[in-house]
Amino acid sequence: MNSLLLTRRSRRNRRNQKIRDLIEETVLRAEDLIQPLFVVDGRGAPEPVESMPDVFRYSVNDLAKRCEEVAAVGIPAVAVFPKLDSELKDPTGSHALDEDALLYRAIRAVKQAVPELLVITDVALDPYTSHGHDGVLTDDGASVDNDESVALLARLAVLEAAAGADWVAPSDMMDGRVGVIREELDRAGFIDTGILAYSAKFASAYYGPFREAVGSLQAAGTAHLDKRSYQLNPANRREAILDALLDEDEGADVMMVKPAGPYLDVIRELREQTLLPVAAYQVSGEYAQIHAAARLGWLDLQKTRDESLLAIKRAGADMILSYFAEAVARDSQ
Ligand code: PBG
Repeated sequence: MNSLLLTRRSRRNRRNQKIRDLIEETVLRAEDLIQPLFVVDGRGAPEPVESMPDVFRYSVNDLAKRCEEVAAVGIPAVAVFPKLDSELKDPTGSHALDEDALLYRAIRAVKQAVPELLVITDVALDPYTSHGHDGVLTDDGASVDNDESVALLARLAVLEAAAGADWVAPSDMMDGRVGVIREELDRAGFIDTGILAYSAKFASAYYGPFREAVGSLQAAGTAHLDKRSYQLNPANRREAILDALLDEDEGADVMMVKPAGPYLDVIRELREQTLLPVAAYQVSGEYAQIHAAARLGWLDLQKTRDESLLAIKRAGADMILSYFAEAVARDSQ
């Protein structure tokens, strides 16, 4: 046999499964995952979201039952998103301030059914506004008014906390919102309610299916909602880190990068720039593209799903929001 004289043979460490297990660097656990769920008013059957296979909008009752199932497979947290009837929407998202609005009823129902399951809720106006933006518009309608929006968002956060949310998650990308939300939560006595800030949130085309799910596109009557005056430019990593670190200064408990898969470099960089926990959101479009390719027979759903999540963890995320969360946890039992 004519062997090469090699000092290093990397393949020795990949020889069999036992060795591969011992040298494995990253492990994805059910405990790292957060399941996003959609809720809708009424008592109807779960409504499928067309561009997101296996994802449904649930009535409040069904949502509570779903949460029991999610908790039973070891997922520690859910993120709940409401889809509102269009007649409840207006330019200022005023329905968000009604303490009997769908989201607050949903939070109460979930906390009652599964008290130990952590509930995370978006702080943003997009489910409530007729134009689909995350805040209120300036008088001339040309832009989203930062400071007016922040004042409203802080009231929303307090209502979410009062309903029982464990973490409020400002997803609006307004300036200064984390600090004001912290102040208002503390003033209202919610010192233990955490802030999971969408700190590096990009103006991404990957949110399309989500906007179908919550009806923000239909409300706006447009195929594309332009949020580039507040969400980050996908071209900018430094700007993303700069903006994220402001959230840390303002009191964020966890900082999130979103989307996840196309922004692994941002996750890694934020991991290295902060000592806070880092979250990542594998968004609706990332989920939809894996499903679409699997439907065509072009990708293996389960293997691609698991690899996509492992990559996000390896990049440095401590926790991952993913529509695959429950399925992954179930398959690994
Ligand atoms: C709204 C919000 C969005 C998502 C989470 N919260 C969409 C947006 O900013 O338009 C996207 C989630 C996903 O695509 O899965 N503030």
